[in-house]
Parts: sequence; C-alpha cells; structure tokens
Amino acid sequence: MADTDGLLEARDFTGPAATAGAFHVKGAQAQDWGLQNRLSRIFRRDTGRTVMLAFDHGYFLGPMAGLERLDTGIAPLVPDADAIMMTRGALRTSIPPHTDAGIVLRASGGPSVLRDLSDEHIALDIEDAVRLNAAALAIQVFIGSENESRSVRNLAALVDAGQRHGVAVLGVTAVGKDMVRDARYFRLATRISAEMGAHVVKTYYVEEGFETVTASCPVPIIVAGGKKLPELDALTMAHRSIQEGAAGVDMGRNIFQSEHPAAMLAAVRAVVHDDAKPEEAYELFRDRAAASA
Ligand code: R5P
Repeated sequence: MADTDGLLEARDFTGPAATAGAFHVKGAQAQDWGLQNRLSRIFRRDTGRTVMLAFDHGYFLGPMAGLERLDTGIAPLVPDADAIMMTRGALRTSIPPHTDAGIVLRASGGPSVLRDLSDEHIALDIEDAVRLNAAALAIQVFIGSENESRSVRNLAALVDAGQRHGVAVLGVTAVGKDMVRDARYFRLATRISAEMGAHVVKTYYVEEGFETVTASCPVPIIVAGGKKLPELDALTMAHRSIQEGAAGVDMGRNIFQSEHPAAMLAAVRAVVHDDAKPEEAYELFRDRAAASA
C-alpha cells in the first residue's frame, strides 16, 4: 500500500522566483536547456572559458608525433582538460568513459593528408553522437578553398541535426594553403560559421587585429595552437588570445608534443582560467616539469 498516511502539509510557497542569471556562453542565451547544458560541459561557468585538448589529428594524419599511443599518451591528460576533441574511434577505444570532460566529436572526414583536405563530408550520425554523450560536434569549414560551398553546407546540415538534439556545433576554420592568415580573413571565416549556426568557432591567433575577430563573431572563439612552438611562445599566444577576447583554447600539438605534456596543460590552464601572464605560466610549466622528472 502507498505510504500516504501522515504526509507533511506543503506550506512554503513564498519568496521571489529564483533566476538562473545570464547564461555564461556568448550568443547562447536563447538556446534550449539541453544545448545550454552541453555548452556548460565545455565552458566553465566561473570563467566562461575552456581548455579543450585536441587530439583528432589522426583522422587525416594518422599516428603523428605525440599521438602514437592514445591510451598511454593522451588518456592520462584528459582529467586536466575541460573538454576533449577527438574522433569517435579514439573516444571509444582509448578514453575511459568515467571522464568528466565535455566531449567534442570530430564529425567530418574524407580525404587524408595525401589529398585535397577540403574535400570533406559529414562523417558521423547525430544518433551516434548522442549515444556517446557528445556536448558538441566539430566540423571543418573551408572558406576560400576548392570545396568552400560544400563545407558550408556540411556545417548547416550538422547545425540542423544539432539543434534537433540539443548538441552544439563547433565550426573549425580550416585555412587553405593559399589563404592569407590575417584578421580580415578570420573575420570573414568565423562570421560565416557563426551566421550558419555554429555555436562555437575555432580559429587561429593573429598578432594584428585579433580583437576584431573575437568582437565581430557572435559566438565564442577558441584558438587552435597550431604547429609546436617553444613553450613560452605558445603560452604567450594563448595569453594574448584570451586577453583579446578568445573564450579559450582548442590546443593539441603544443600540449601533446611538449616534452612535458601534463606540465604544459597545467600552464595553459593557468593562462586561460587564472589570467596568468606568460612568464608566470612558464614558471609553473618548469616547476611541474622538474617535479615530474
Ligand atoms: C586539426 O587537425 C584539428 O582541428 C586540431 O584539433 C586543431 O588544429 C587543434 O590542434 P593544434 O593545436 O595542434 O593545431
């Protein structure tokens, strides 16, 4: 029999309605609860920023330096990342499912590094992304390249699927060999991704006018690390990106190709979440590296 005897009388109905306050991710105030919840798995509420560890490079490059072994080289770093970006194959085979990191799944593919990289297609079904508890799907957008139009259509199709299921989409700015990497190009490319519905856009840092790129994009910009640099240079780039309006980094090679990836990840976290200056973060890197030697 249901335990209905002696229930306490409901009586506390007073007080103003609780409000959640402004949502902490740029441009996402009008999104549905599920999509906001997923974006919150990527962007920390206290800082509004993210440290996303990217190791999806194998989808066209194979086992490059630093990614030879995902299970031993990358999985131990994951607890210190806010979000991780990889293929579903890497996730299922090599990342423990008890991770707290926001899952950002590479959703495009096709050509290897031996072919025209812009010749991409959507390579993931939204149903599998939901099964994998993805917070976001990442897709390459090739503005100015041979297959520009198809890549924009791919993005739009993924946004349609993402909106239906409450999964965010990360538009990845892919710069063709002949493109000039300047603020003008990145304003164009990032704005197109956002206007096509991307909820987050990844781009590269440029020394002149980067603040115009972040200002003119109505969704958060996160910055790719690019080729491996000396640690202090990479931390300086991350610092400038954040101070000029980026909402985080999506960094791969400058972490996993460092001699001390865990120390580098900690230093990047200090730059992104604590506004550490590059020299302070580099000091932290050296201390952590020395402690682990
Ligand atoms: C390209 O391979 C991917 O989108 C990478 O995830 C992205 O470029 C970030 O990695 P990295 O910091 O190595 O450039």
